[in-house]
Amino acid sequence: MKIGIILGTRPEIIKMSPIIRYCSMQGIGFFILHSGQHYSYNMDKVFFDELQLPEPSYNLETGSGDPGEQTARMIIGIEKVLLHENPDVILVQGDTNTVLAGAIAGVKTGTQIGHVEAGLRSFDRSMPEEINRILADHCSDYLFAPTKTAEQNLIHEGIPVGKIRVCGNTIVDAVYQNLQIAGKKRTVISSLHLHPGKYFVLTAHRQENVDDKQRILGIINGVREVYLQYGYPVIFPIHPRTRKQLELFRIPPPDGLLFTEPLGYLDFLLLEKESLLVLTDSGGLQEECCIMQVPCVTLRDNTERPETIEVGANILVGSDSRSIITGVRTMMNKARDWKNPFGDGKSGERIINSITSEA
Ligand code: UD1
Ligand code: UDP
Repeated sequence: MKIGIILGTRPEIIKMSPIIRYCSMQGIGFFILHSGQHYSYNMDKVFFDELQLPEPSYNLETGSGDPGEQTARMIIGIEKVLLHENPDVILVQGDTNTVLAGAIAGVKTGTQIGHVEAGLRSFDRSMPEEINRILADHCSDYLFAPTKTAEQNLIHEGIPVGKIRVCGNTIVDAVYQNLQIAGKKRTVISSLHLHPGKYFVLTAHRQENVDDKQRILGIINGVREVYLQYGYPVIFPIHPRTRKQLELFRIPPPDGLLFTEPLGYLDFLLLEKESLLVLTDSGGLQEECCIMQVPCVTLRDNTERPETIEVGANILVGSDSRSIITGVRTMMNKARDWKNPFGDGKSGERIINSITSEA
């Protein structure tokens, strides 16, 4: 048995890490193919180092660029590796351009494809991620849906039930496996001059937010309101895309907003866990907040993670400053007593066992 694990961005490395660890522990043959979509140390290598993952066997070093060209370069590189390695199955995770490229290269080389985190839908086809996940799902042989909702989305699109397995989300595995280590070793909160339970966390990188001046301004103004109203700082580990856009639009940081470089996973988990509340447009953060009982305010008009809203852990507010402050008030007044809908932390194991038992 040989499994090709394809990844390329920060969330894919984190969410594939439980699968990689389980393959290593069980002595299952695998190789890692990195597309190079993310390449800065703090968006890429820091996660391999901290999570003690083996070096990728291949790094295509694709880098940034126009999305079509970026995806095309990845397809060419992945196809070559698949022809050389001839794996029994490849795994892709999520909804990035790396996932789309992996799925297309898989189909074209006749390789079996497993899609981890299959079936998520925002029903907003203007998002590049929505197109990527739909296409990846429809190319795949194994669809690892994290929840029943995701399974239903796939069934509605005509995917045969026999290809779908509801396995939970590997982010639960990643949170459980790393939170303990993070708690023991880290001093991130004090080194940022913060106090547990006395700060907010902000992340924003979604193309539809940060490439649009009105939307990113609305978010920044909303954050200013949060600071004025509560008097607690908002810590903002800034994604490189967002840094570039704030410079381009010449938007100055408001009072109370503290920028940092993107953080490693152990520091970031701890920062998130001890925060009052998280404001974000990230998919992974909506899930992590829900798992760690931290209220989440999502700076988007829709979400492919409706389970977080259904259980009461999350609210959608878009990018308007008034909606942001109203949403923060609502979530600050909520009891943190919801149930985690994303599984028991054994998703990686379930995914690999499902492949090895059937291949
Ligand atoms: C990508 C994914 C998005 C995912 C996000 C995770 C797609 C279409 N988008 O968005 O779904 O949520 O990753 O973070 O695949 N840059 C660096 N260093 C890096 C990586 C990027 O400086 O290591 C900068 C470059 O200026 C680049 C920009 O960030 O142009 C955007 O990077 P890109 O990978 O195209 O998209 P993300 O916004 O990161
Ligand atoms: N994350 C991190 N450091 C940071 C910000 C985020 O380690 O400074 C982690 C976060 O805990 C989550 C993942 O990165 O697991 C989310 O990645 P991102 O928001 O870039 O992508 P998305 O989940 O939206 O695809």
